[in-house]
Amino acid sequence: MKDLFKHNKPLHSIIRETAEVAGYLWQRGWAERNAGNISINISEIVDIEIIDYSPFPFLDLPFSYPKLADSSFLVTGTGKRMRDFANSPMNNGIVIKVNQSANGYWILSQKAGSSSFLPTSELSTHLGIHQLIAERGSPEKVVLHAHTTELIALTHAEEFCNQDSLNNLLWGMHPETIVFVPKGVGFVPYMLPGSVEIAMETIKALQNHDVALWEKHGVFAIGNCVHETFDVIDILAKSARIYFMCQSANILPRGLTASQLSDLKL
Ligand code: 13P
Ligand code: ZN
Repeated sequence: MKDLFKHNKPLHSIIRETAEVAGYLWQRGWAERNAGNISINISEIVDIEIIDYSPFPFLDLPFSYPKLADSSFLVTGTGKRMRDFANSPMNNGIVIKVNQSANGYWILSQKAGSSSFLPTSELSTHLGIHQLIAERGSPEKVVLHAHTTELIALTHAEEFCNQDSLNNLLWGMHPETIVFVPKGVGFVPYMLPGSVEIAMETIKALQNHDVALWEKHGVFAIGNCVHETFDVIDILAKSARIYFMCQSANILPRGLTASQLSDLKL
């Protein structure tokens, strides 16, 4: 990896920022063991021309992602810890390149070939989201999945397993939330992690929301850069914390009023 991209300063700077955010995820308690994963579309900055792909391992994808043909991604490795990625990103993450038919990818990193060093098990969801971003022509490059405790806790209450009540609660707890997460959270009922079904439901949820919240599991957020993507999750988690803090102090949180919220939407 280091050799292939040795002189790519923009890539090194993205790796540095991603490592910093991986450290925040760990510090917040949103990345126990290997929890969470990150993918970043780096196609615009990876400009090396590879004539012969035969030395690189090739893996099939469960679907074809036509809009991602020839695209490159920085991806965290499956089973890797965010806290380790923070200290040594390229021993815990890899660069992949999708083939022209968009139904498989090469692993271009140094540790390629080792069966213990593969991309995240949630790759189908990540690539499905990048495909959605490409289809709508929006600028986001980052997809971030984290086990955000405060938001997971909300999904254990049946009343919040419903998009309207979930968003009303989160927007109502703090003015920043509606400003920075205006399309709110799309709710994804519990499904097997890593499955094709959960990937499809997540893509559906992100068609008209900023973030997808997986029941009893975690969040998927998208953004232009890794810091901004982290910020969205951080803001939502703050709203959830305010709610739980009020509850544990026996305060019934009043929430922002409808007119306070509509002023913020302007
Ligand atoms: P990976 O280690 O495969 O990225 O899985 C972590 C995770 O959070 C699964 O949902
Ligand atoms: Zn997870």
